[in-house]
Amino acid sequence: MSTPSRKLDHLLIARDREVEALRLNWLPQIHIPHEALPEMDLDQVNLETDFLGRTVAAPLIIEGMTGGHEAAERINRALASVAEEFRVAIGVGSQRAALEHPELIGTYRVGREEAPDVPLIANIGATHITGERGLRNVQEVASMIEADAVAIHLNALQEVVQPEGDPTYAGVLAALRDLAREAGVPIVVKETGTGISGETARAIERAGAYAIDVGGAGGTHWAIVEGLRYPQDHILAPSPFRFTTWGIPTPVSVAEVSSLTSRVKVIGSGGVRSGVDAAKVIALGAHMAGAALPFLRAFYRGGRDSLRDAMERFISELRWALFLAGCRTPAELRLRGRAVVTGEPLQWLQQRLGPGWQVYKPGMKSPRWLVGWG
Ligand SMILES: Cc1cc2nc3c(=O)[nH]c(=O)nc-3n(C[C@H](O)[C@H](O)[C@H](O)COP(=O)(O)O)c2cc1C
Repeated sequence: MSTPSRKLDHLLIARDREVEALRLNWLPQIHIPHEALPEMDLDQVNLETDFLGRTVAAPLIIEGMTGGHEAAERINRALASVAEEFRVAIGVGSQRAALEHPELIGTYRVGREEAPDVPLIANIGATHITGERGLRNVQEVASMIEADAVAIHLNALQEVVQPEGDPTYAGVLAALRDLAREAGVPIVVKETGTGISGETARAIERAGAYAIDVGGAGGTHWAIVEGLRYPQDHILAPSPFRFTTWGIPTPVSVAEVSSLTSRVKVIGSGGVRSGVDAAKVIALGAHMAGAALPFLRAFYRGGRDSLRDAMERFISELRWALFLAGCRTPAELRLRGRAVVTGEPLQWLQQRLGPGWQVYKPGMKSPRWLVGWG
């Protein structure tokens, strides 16, 4: 099946079917202590954040989803114009289709046309950055849309469970190292719904990435999306569904990555469904929060108007959450390490980062500490 029609399948399945790994959504087990005395007014909350050399009005990213066909062009146009209106960052979907079919470039370029003043992130899969064409692919997808950065997406799970997948990951880390030196554009390494561990984040940071988008488990899950696409008479048809509990849940991925890195900007995404969820990933160490599915579904519900409403809700909720936490800025929320982690995520982090692990200790300035990494 060609790339454009596979991508259309993905959009329609994401629109119509239950594609989220809800059992892996651990955000309800993360809490931000209520501040009964915020000692400021709501309008003193300032969500402005620096990202990729620009200032966004709120630390939010519309995560990369689409491009490559007519329907995608309409979606990218609406997503980008809402990103521009609210001054938030935006990514486009994998640009492989446009590398293979240059007549599709316009379906991605609408991103820059509609959003000239916000961080715009190009997108290409890890399997396309290795080999002779790797560097050129990355430079082409960046210049195609005048991007501020290129996201290299990691989707090993999707590549194995997809009938036409290409699970060839040998050499990706070395290619990332070369790209960070030679591509001439900041590199964002992003997962797509199964998360990134602290150790892997550390290797990615050493390779020279600008940002790591954890793309954790708890939202859109590719074992489900690809499972629903599988030919039903195929002997492996049930197999993708065995992996629907596979993945590092978003809050623990954010906590691991921000604990084990020191320079990269961390982006918390995967199952982020509200401004409250966004505040939680920031409290765990993220610089920005991102979401894909809620914005796609808002578009399908009512076009640009619904999308606009969804973004307004996200930003208002994030502002309220900061006020109720007594924090004037996202950086204050992040650097205070305010999150309280309970239940399964706490068990996970204690097992992975050591029993002394905790998000907040009095006097601690930054959550980027590490207690007893084993
Ligand atoms: C329909 C659809 C298509 C996607 N296509 C891409 C893609 O081309 N490249 C990419 O890096 N991520 C892609 N993603 C993954 C998202 O960017 C995001 O990492 C993931 O969906 C988790 O976020 P969510 O739970 O908010 O949806 C896609 C997601 C959806 C729903």
